[in-house]
Amino acid sequence: MIPQSFVQDLLARVDIVDVIERYLPLKKSGANYFACCPFHGEKSASFSVSPSKQFYHCFGCGVHGSAIGFLMEYSGLGFVEAVKELANQAGLQVPDDGKPGQNAIDDSTAKLVDAMTEAASFYRDQLKHSPEAIDYLKRRGLSGEVASRFGIGFSPDEWQALQRIFPDYQSKHLAEAGLVIDNDQGRRYDRFRHRIMFPIHDRRGRIIAFGGRVLDGGEPKYLNSPETPLFEKGRELYGLYLAQKAIRDAGFALVVEGYMDVVALAQFGVDNAVATLGTATTPHHINTLLRHTDRIVFCFDGDAAGRRAAWRALENALEALRDDTTLAFLFLPAEHDPDSFVRKEGAEAFRKAAASASPLASVLLLELKERCELDTAEGRARLIHESRPLVTRIGAPMLRLQVIKSIAEAAEMTQTEVELAFGLKPAAAPQRQSFPKPDFKRGQRRTEPFRPQGRRKPPSTIGTLLRLILQHPERATRLPIDLIPDDSAEGRAMIAIIDLVSLGEPVPAGGLGALIERFRDTPHEETLARLGTEQDESEFDESVIEILFEDTLRKLQSDAIAREITELLELSKQGALSTSDRHRLSELLLEKRNLASAGKVADL
Ligand code: UTP
Ligand code: MN
Repeated sequence: MIPQSFVQDLLARVDIVDVIERYLPLKKSGANYFACCPFHGEKSASFSVSPSKQFYHCFGCGVHGSAIGFLMEYSGLGFVEAVKELANQAGLQVPDDGKPGQNAIDDSTAKLVDAMTEAASFYRDQLKHSPEAIDYLKRRGLSGEVASRFGIGFSPDEWQALQRIFPDYQSKHLAEAGLVIDNDQGRRYDRFRHRIMFPIHDRRGRIIAFGGRVLDGGEPKYLNSPETPLFEKGRELYGLYLAQKAIRDAGFALVVEGYMDVVALAQFGVDNAVATLGTATTPHHINTLLRHTDRIVFCFDGDAAGRRAAWRALENALEALRDDTTLAFLFLPAEHDPDSFVRKEGAEAFRKAAASASPLASVLLLELKERCELDTAEGRARLIHESRPLVTRIGAPMLRLQVIKSIAEAAEMTQTEVELAFGLKPAAAPQRQSFPKPDFKRGQRRTEPFRPQGRRKPPSTIGTLLRLILQHPERATRLPIDLIPDDSAEGRAMIAIIDLVSLGEPVPAGGLGALIERFRDTPHEETLARLGTEQDESEFDESVIEILFEDTLRKLQSDAIAREITELLELSKQGALSTSDRHRLSELLLEKRNLASAGKVADL
């Protein structure tokens, strides 16, 4: 763990413009800097970096974050690594947070990687001497060449085989690496016993985990390393390190479900396959792959589980979609997985099938239509209902439009009717609108994200306050927490910020970027980032901030008063008003009048 205070100091110290400029040429335009987005192919510069917010955002593909987030995205680093890299660049020492075993992050990570590397070489060696394991791999049709390319090994059928290579078998780092397990009696034994071992590499080729397959019908069929400081399942893809070049050469990445699928495909010359590690395909996986290529073909097993996995991958891909990427699905015959298919039909047949995989939008539309009986009004209404949460998440504007048109046709509605039913016109507006006052600057937007034209809802009081706080976090100290309603994501983020300040934590001084880092891995992170991306280039003018802030506070107060008045009037209607209630009500009505006559709040 890196202390939060260090992260905050670091972000206050570095300038995101300098950080990004090391990797991308930035051009100043107005208050911000621009570049062609490194995360999606484009010719116009939609990638903006705001020095005032210490925040980057691409209008084209939607990536955004702090300086730390940029390093994670750009270099594929984990959080800790990114902080270290940034600290390095800034000439700062990442501190020890006092917990044993955590000091010198570098050393401890390196120690774990060393242990994994040694274990892998031990397992490889064991394979050479195990006729049983060799025989198994032969039966599965694996060549020695491909087994050695993937570093496949074998863990012997013993409780403490690793003791032979680790004289310090009791040392803590072996447990931390997930190689051994300590039982309740305090006895330690090897996690992987009597299994074919598949080493899992990170993108730099370091061994960070293992998957182990039983040789017989034992359970579980595959045992994977637990999540460790080295290994986070939802971020890693099996085979990516070896497949990187092939993915570039082939022009697409193939995502399959199993270790064996990756290995078998490689043996047949299909080298561009990777597998998720017993988890659903995550948005992170998709974004990682889209950094290597703009085409992904998912090829899951032909069975029901495979179809479910495909649907989950589809759902998780929606936000990551861009108009210059293609995601497609290859559904194999029910009895096959990629391993068995390529063995039976050969590489050419497999390549052909992959080339004709169904594009994501077709799969989406087909599935949605299949779920609804389109020859009834109810079925068509259901289509709208079911597709809404999916379609509105599609990140590619033009593709989204195409899908909306198809849905409109199937539902026998007009495009406008569907957009309205999806809440796109009214809902998309407040997200990206500017505050309807002439008081603040509007810069030019580069590539405009998809935004259906329509009536704009006025901004919520909380939304405005949050925007003000983002621009000037120190104002959070002046906010009354009990006036903030917690019935919206923005309200809850606001409360979290005030909480933090009232607990005496310094307000993040490194702009929006620092605030987002403070709330990394909480629901507030996304809420804050979203506001940051929306208000981009429409910051409030400094000269009106204080007035606006006070106005908004007053509005908050009057909202709270109005809410309480409504409640009391409701009680009164039911004849349930106590004397003190009645007293409170007249007090509130008076306050309301005072606030109104102050002329600041027109309609309560
Ligand atoms: P499969 O059972 O389809 O794997 O599970 P496979 O690679 O085709 O296995 P073979 O051909 O029978 O050897 C797909 C993936 O799900 C994870 C593994 O990552 C596996 O590769 N899995 C499966 C587990 O993590 N644990 C299990 O018990 C089973
Ligand atoms: Mn299989």
